[in-house]
Amino acid sequence: MTKRIFSGMQPTNRLQLGNYLGALRNWVKLQDEGDNQCLYGVMDLHAITNGHDPKALTEATRETAAAYIAAGVDPKRSYIMAQSSVSGHAELTWLLSSMTQMGKLERMTQFKDKAGKNAERASLGLFAYPVLMAADILLYKATHVPVGEDQKQHLELSRDVASVFNEKYAGGKEYFPMPEPYIMGTATRVMSLRDGTQKMSKSAESDMTRINLTDDADMIAKKFKKAKTDQGNVPASDKEGEGRPEAMNLIGIYAALSDTTSEQVMAEFGGQQFSALKTALSDLAVAQLSPITTRMSELMSDKAEIDNILKAGADKARELAAPTLDDVYKMMGFLR
Ligand code: TYM
Repeated sequence: MTKRIFSGMQPTNRLQLGNYLGALRNWVKLQDEGDNQCLYGVMDLHAITNGHDPKALTEATRETAAAYIAAGVDPKRSYIMAQSSVSGHAELTWLLSSMTQMGKLERMTQFKDKAGKNAERASLGLFAYPVLMAADILLYKATHVPVGEDQKQHLELSRDVASVFNEKYAGGKEYFPMPEPYIMGTATRVMSLRDGTQKMSKSAESDMTRINLTDDADMIAKKFKKAKTDQGNVPASDKEGEGRPEAMNLIGIYAALSDTTSEQVMAEFGGQQFSALKTALSDLAVAQLSPITTRMSELMSDKAEIDNILKAGADKARELAAPTLDDVYKMMGFLR
């Protein structure tokens, strides 16, 4: 069966290791597997919901597209586009927003985290963020959505919105297929290098909390060297790792980068000092990431080429989206 795959990342700051291990790397696997049809968006409309700088948005949009390609997304086989250049995303958001209850949006943990204590001052865009995300997915009738664990709740909302639409306007038939979250591999939640209870994030204040896809070898080594650990040695079992989130995070990253399991990593490094694991981890991360970093900067030296790729992707995506958008308008009673 052909799977229709949709996913995306916000072009806010630089991509970090969590984005790569939790999502991007899996996108490439899905593209290379079976006859999947893959669409990967640079979610620029999502990136403005918390205040933004226009120039930085333009650059980050290109850089995010460059990261996709450098990591192995092939624009000849997968569609890569900027969300804003396919107007159906914004249109469908409006239509779906009228069938989404505010109470459900209020329960979204990402909104609560990002809005902080001052929810009154948060933008309507930040509040409506998950509706735009549902529109991204449903616009292409995507069946599978490869994301990290933090997006699970948003995916549940997308499924909910799809079923409300199906119930209300499609007479209970499955007009929109239920999008499945595809949470793949072992690094579904990579944690901060400075605090193992916080997820690694491109928007965290300190750069030392994350490995950026643009970091060079020295920076990667420095960040792993300074990564927080505890007084003990590397745990040799899950039991020894209990209550030691920083240690387990480094083990998890090593396992993901080397395509093994945490058990195997613990069998190899258990009982040794953290410095041994950290050195091996830096070498491994540099070996895996440096070809991507190099390719990204090559791509970024020809911005017109990136713009062309995004334009071609948007043209194809628009074509794919048009019949769905047309159906939805008609099913909802709009004159077309
Ligand atoms: P964003 O830009 O925050 O993150 C992009 C992807 O990276 C994953 N990710 C992580 N995975 C593991 N460990 C981490 N520390 C980590 N940090 C980020 C995220 O789970 C995500 O898969 N709302 C989305 C973007 C989006 C989207 C969509 C995704 C907009 N529309 C439609 C799928 C389908 C977001 O903010 O991702």
